[in-house]
Amino acid sequence: MSEPKPSTADILAKIRAQKTGAGGNAASEPVAATPAPATPPVEAQAAVAPPAAPVAKPKATPAAKPGSTSDILAAIRAAKGGGASATAATPSPAAQAAVPVAAAAKPAVASGAPKPSVEEMLNAVRGKAASAEVAATAPVAPAKPTLPPIPVKPPAAKDKKAAVGVDRRSFVAACFAPVVVGFSAMAATSLIWLLDLARFMFPNVLVEPPTAFKIGPPSDYPLGGVSTKWLAARGVWIVHTDQYKGRNLIYALASVCTHLGCTPNWLEGEQKYKCPCHGSGFYVNGINFEGPAPRPLERVGLKLAADGQLEVDKSVKFQEEMGQWEDSNSYVDGSLV
Ligand code: FES
Repeated sequence: MSEPKPSTADILAKIRAQKTGAGGNAASEPVAATPAPATPPVEAQAAVAPPAAPVAKPKATPAAKPGSTSDILAAIRAAKGGGASATAATPSPAAQAAVPVAAAAKPAVASGAPKPSVEEMLNAVRGKAASAEVAATAPVAPAKPTLPPIPVKPPAAKDKKAAVGVDRRSFVAACFAPVVVGFSAMAATSLIWLLDLARFMFPNVLVEPPTAFKIGPPSDYPLGGVSTKWLAARGVWIVHTDQYKGRNLIYALASVCTHLGCTPNWLEGEQKYKCPCHGSGFYVNGINFEGPAPRPLERVGLKLAADGQLEVDKSVKFQEEMGQWEDSNSYVDGSLV
């Protein structure tokens, strides 16, 4: 039954303890007399047991520190290279105690193999202890349970339902599209009608100038003249003449042809009104004398206002054939102004 191998720390502690104990009487007490915590191999015991003379003289190796790592390594190498010569002169007792450990750590070196370096030997000793410790203390990772694959649902039924739903929606949309278009057109038409009705509720307003207006004093219209000042704006000629029944009168003639309603032109050189439409002609007093016009031009109301101005009133008309030119509202006596 093999005993557990001592670690490097144990070997060093043992060697230092031996050194400490042998400091005063190393020559009188043999190393073998000290109790060893571990039992080294037989070869190592043989190397350590005889108290050789060099052991009693630690000063034989003044370069190496007693009990140091260098001593131990030197002893190990000596044990490997020189076989079992335990009587080597240089090793210290501590080195001699370390020999069995090195022999146990590297048995192949003694058979003539190349000497390992210091680092290799230390790593070998530490590596074994560390690997053993790690192997003893490393937890075993539990194996992950393998889950069964998730079955994939067959999409055939769902896709079929979706396809049927799309077809149904398309059919409904196709059926209702004309209805939607029709209702939209009807709504647009109703809106247009409503807007037209609202516009109809607001009738057109024709803003016309007032029918009564002042044209200035009678002196602005000398005898024998036809004024076209108000023709464009008011559609009347202001005539001051004595060509009608020999009376000096001022009156206003409407510029509307009695044939079909055209506007005649006053021809100053010919002293007549000439209708451009059908050639009707009127004298300066408004009596028709040529063309298709059936009757004289019409007068509009005229009076002398309180401020001394002539005031025209187009809201009333006077027709000569009706004897209305005799109405005093159809003229102003020119001899009085
Ligand atoms: Fe004046 Fe016919 S409208 S002549």
